[in-house]
Amino acid sequence: MTQREEITYFGAGPALLPTPVLQTAAQALVNYNGTGLGLAEHSHRSKIAEDVLNTAKADLATYLDIPDNYEVLFMQGGGSGEFSATVYNMVGIWVEKRKQKILKELGIAEGKDISEDVIATELRKAVEEELKIDYLVTGSWSLKASQEAARLLGPEYVNIATDSRKINDGKFGKIPEEKSWNLSKNPAMVYYCDNETVDGVEFPGFPEVLKSNGQDEEPIVVADMSSNILSRRIPVKNFSLIFFGAQKNLGCTGVTVVIIKKSLLPPTIATPSPSLMRKLGLPIGPIVLSYETIAKNNSLYNTLSIFDVYIAGQVLKSLLKTFSDKVDGQQAIAEKKANLIYAALDAHSNVYKVVSDKSARSRMNICFRVTKSQDVAESEKQFIAGAEKIGLTGLKGHRSVGGIRASNYNSISLEGAEKLAAFINSFAESK
Ligand SMILES: Cc1ncc(COP(=O)(O)O)c(C=O)c1O
Repeated sequence: MTQREEITYFGAGPALLPTPVLQTAAQALVNYNGTGLGLAEHSHRSKIAEDVLNTAKADLATYLDIPDNYEVLFMQGGGSGEFSATVYNMVGIWVEKRKQKILKELGIAEGKDISEDVIATELRKAVEEELKIDYLVTGSWSLKASQEAARLLGPEYVNIATDSRKINDGKFGKIPEEKSWNLSKNPAMVYYCDNETVDGVEFPGFPEVLKSNGQDEEPIVVADMSSNILSRRIPVKNFSLIFFGAQKNLGCTGVTVVIIKKSLLPPTIATPSPSLMRKLGLPIGPIVLSYETIAKNNSLYNTLSIFDVYIAGQVLKSLLKTFSDKVDGQQAIAEKKANLIYAALDAHSNVYKVVSDKSARSRMNICFRVTKSQDVAESEKQFIAGAEKIGLTGLKGHRSVGGIRASNYNSISLEGAEKLAAFINSFAESK
């Protein structure tokens, strides 16, 4: 039987969880805090559940320095659910803002009850002429998100502001220069994926062109951070919304976190009525994907897996205990580990080809090909087999692209990364 300690698992998600967290969680699953019931059995409406939820929210806010004008939501449906949720919600917010503008132009006082039909005609014109959502397509996940938007809304509303494949021989691996991006004027959102898990492409930082210039309307920037959250400091205030599935750096599969600016929620802004959206021919999302509904109910609109939130909370507690400088401490280690692995690959450039360009290399998902012999598939098979023999597992690339992918999430120890770097060296040098 293989023991946990013998393995360093580089899988892309679900990912490795710290053993002490799992041990604590195992106990909580059987009997939580001496209550005679496990945490997965306690009501999500209980005080116990509320405490677990609120503690996890507070610890996340502390670790990432989330400003007070943001709300943290725990949702379900994974990253893919958020591909849809961001569209439904951000389009709704765009419509509501546009409605307010039209009312003002018509000289109708705020809060005055008027028939929806009066503004529906004007709004329909605005939707047809102006509604756009922008996507920066830099890898497989942002591509999928943009495809979901086109499916829900119709492709005429989706603007692919950039597509990396156009500058990289039809493949992902680079991020086009910002000045080449074809951004819309006041789109419902600009969406991007901060770290592309399949393709090993990460934005080096927040795009300059998406920063508020303090004059025009603030850009609505939405980011998928499913595979790099908690691994580096992020300028939260530049984003309208950040989302991430828990199953890579935060916890286990089952909960998705949304960090949303409060000004996109009531009382500042309310979702337009379903009847108005129907009149405009725009989709109405499922209630469980409504940020307004989830926020109003402190993430407990329906039954949430409190056990999954608990695991996330334990991971956050352990990060806060380990790093007195919070996410900065973890960031330094993440960079150190990634640099070690990339250095080993670069030192043998005749044997390994890193998939992404140096300017956009992911610290979290290190994707490369093994070209030791002309038969790349055979070389990669040998690489994986050799690695597994010494307990380095989960290195196979995503089925859509092949190759090798070492996912360097927070739970990979420095020793684990060193072991992989040493194996990369020894495999290259072996006969
Ligand atoms: C960056 C990113 N976004 C979204 C997803 C989809 O997440 P889920 O499987 O939770 O729907 C993934 C999954 O790996 C991902 O890596």
